[in-house]
Amino acid sequence: MVKAVIFDLDGVITDTAELHFQAWKNLANSISIDFDHEFNEQLKGISRMDSLNKILNHGGAGNNYTGQEKIALATQKNDEYKSLLVNLKPENIYPGIKELLNALKEDSMKIGVASASKNGPAILNYLEITHYFDTIVDPDSVQNGKPAPDIFLKAADQLRVSPEECIGIEDSEAGIEAIKKAGMFAVGVGTGEVMKKAGANLVLVNTSELVWSELTSAVSIR
Ligand code: BG6
Ligand code: MG
Repeated sequence: MVKAVIFDLDGVITDTAELHFQAWKNLANSISIDFDHEFNEQLKGISRMDSLNKILNHGGAGNNYTGQEKIALATQKNDEYKSLLVNLKPENIYPGIKELLNALKEDSMKIGVASASKNGPAILNYLEITHYFDTIVDPDSVQNGKPAPDIFLKAADQLRVSPEECIGIEDSEAGIEAIKKAGMFAVGVGTGEVMKKAGANLVLVNTSELVWSELTSAVSIR
């Protein structure tokens, strides 16, 4: 029986995955590294520092920076990212998300956020949907980032439900892997091949397909 739904944020609730991409690409370009959307798939769901390290390795610059310099680069990216976030409004919530949140409330489901982003609470505020969530896991409070299951397990724990009673919704390969390892039903939204490869139980192309009655029937026939 499903008792809770745990959402990833960036790329599931709103299009901040694209803002992360823009800010990282500008930072990378400023140190003569370039990457495209295909490479960017690997950055989704991954922490700020791990993302930076992947970008530096991709550009053959993995050993060119000290720890202090890397912190400065990550800060530069985050400053630009935060300047992009201030334009976020409730209209930027992805299609179907508000309807799903309302349906979950009506059905007395618990609702959580399991995002690797330290900017998560600010984003939910800009979108004016913080009040829907029973818990938001602090990404600093878990030992291992996605694809490890830690953040989804912590969300279930904070919601006082067992993992088998949870549906997790993700747009990243690392995130789907994390949900599956946590023993939850995994819904992948986005590039079908990426989501299927990662092992999603249900793959949807668009968030408008996140209809509560359809999610519950997908879980029941799994
Ligand atoms: C994840 C994003 O949700 O959060 C990643 O998919 C991002 O792209 C990570 O790097 C950390 O976000 P932030 O906002 O703390 O830098
Ligand atoms: Mg995401």
